[in-house]
Amino acid sequence: MTRFLLRGVRPLGCEPADLLLDEGRITETGPGLDAAGAEVVDGDGLVALPGLVDLHTHLREPGREDAETVETGTRAAAAGGYTAVFAMPNTDPAADTAGVVEQVWRLGREAGYADVQPIGAVTVGRAGSRLAELGAMADSAARVRVFSDDGDCVSDAVLMRRALEYVKAFDGVVAQHAQEPRLTEGAQMNESALSGVLGLRGWPAVAEEAVVARDALLAGHVRSRVHVCHVSTAGSVEIVRWAKAKGWQVTAEVTPHHLMLTEELARSYDPLYKVNPPLRTAEDVHALREALADGTVDCVATDHAPHSLEYKEAEWPAAAPGMLGLETALSAVQEAMVDTGLLDWAGVAERTSARPAAIGRLAGHGRPLAAGEPANVVLYDPSARWVVDPARLASRSRNTPYAGRELPGRVVATFLRGRPTVLEGKPV
Ligand code: DOR
Ligand code: ZN
Repeated sequence: MTRFLLRGVRPLGCEPADLLLDEGRITETGPGLDAAGAEVVDGDGLVALPGLVDLHTHLREPGREDAETVETGTRAAAAGGYTAVFAMPNTDPAADTAGVVEQVWRLGREAGYADVQPIGAVTVGRAGSRLAELGAMADSAARVRVFSDDGDCVSDAVLMRRALEYVKAFDGVVAQHAQEPRLTEGAQMNESALSGVLGLRGWPAVAEEAVVARDALLAGHVRSRVHVCHVSTAGSVEIVRWAKAKGWQVTAEVTPHHLMLTEELARSYDPLYKVNPPLRTAEDVHALREALADGTVDCVATDHAPHSLEYKEAEWPAAAPGMLGLETALSAVQEAMVDTGLLDWAGVAERTSARPAAIGRLAGHGRPLAAGEPANVVLYDPSARWVVDPARLASRSRNTPYAGRELPGRVVATFLRGRPTVLEGKPV
């Protein structure tokens, strides 16, 4: 295996140093390392971060390979600086058995672009009525620790309680898509004055907040771990802050799009901006940014949700919700959090790599950039600017909300256990 010397990079944005990658590990760090026998990557001006970890990726395989596959989705992940992704189980069939999660895990190993850690469904077929075999998925080769019916809420309080109790046996966590179903029947966008003006059925903040509050109480009651997927409202942030203050094991993620975009985009009636939970108000965006900065929201997760053209080039009410995220996430985080002074690069690394790996109990990722650690590294140029061209994305789908928009920062190289998956900005 080739040794790589990453010359003059800025680990976590700090003083320049060299990183030597050999045999899958970082073997040395420091100024002026000996390059003998190594391929040198000129890292002048580049920020080095631990490989990013996404707690919330839709890879669509099995079943919707027209939208994405494990291979195309993990190529997109690598292009975005990710070395590991957690794959959501809303596939067809759903990933609700040891057999399906092992299949997804193996496909990830074969593709080789990023480690794929399957998430198991909470209920059989994600139908919300009977618990799936969580223990069998945990014991499988895929070693599942995160369970979710994402796309749908585990709305039955008794089932949610049982799932929370059950996952304690193997230190698992239930990742909840918080959406009270009755309050959101037919919902199309954030419920607000604007939804009235546009004539699109509203998805009220309370439908998220009611479930976040209930699940925080349940997690506290049974002393288990709940993780709130894609928090989108200022009220959810307040509830998570309160639950954490109680000492309950409640964690939360925010998506790049909820840090960047508001409901105003619905005025276009372009379903590119249709997503679940919906884009909210500028006040919500402000609260989410503050909460990510102060640690109330633990991490960034993309909710990368590829959809083929036929599902997105429809009228708003008929279109599928979801947006691509993997290839633009770090740029979005830079614009929303770093260029605004809310986070430094160490803070970004914590929230895009270390915390998600810790929440998902994923070994070998989210580690410091130190000698002896696995060589999962991304090199990022924060001074670059690029215009997002959907046709040039590695994802099989094209539904990015940033098409034609200029974003800061570019991923220059990604290394998965010392092997480049991206070099000079291109997947290898
Ligand atoms: O917008 C969304 N898309 N939200 C979800 O919860 C599911 C996801 C999907 O699978 O497309
Ligand atoms: Zn979801």
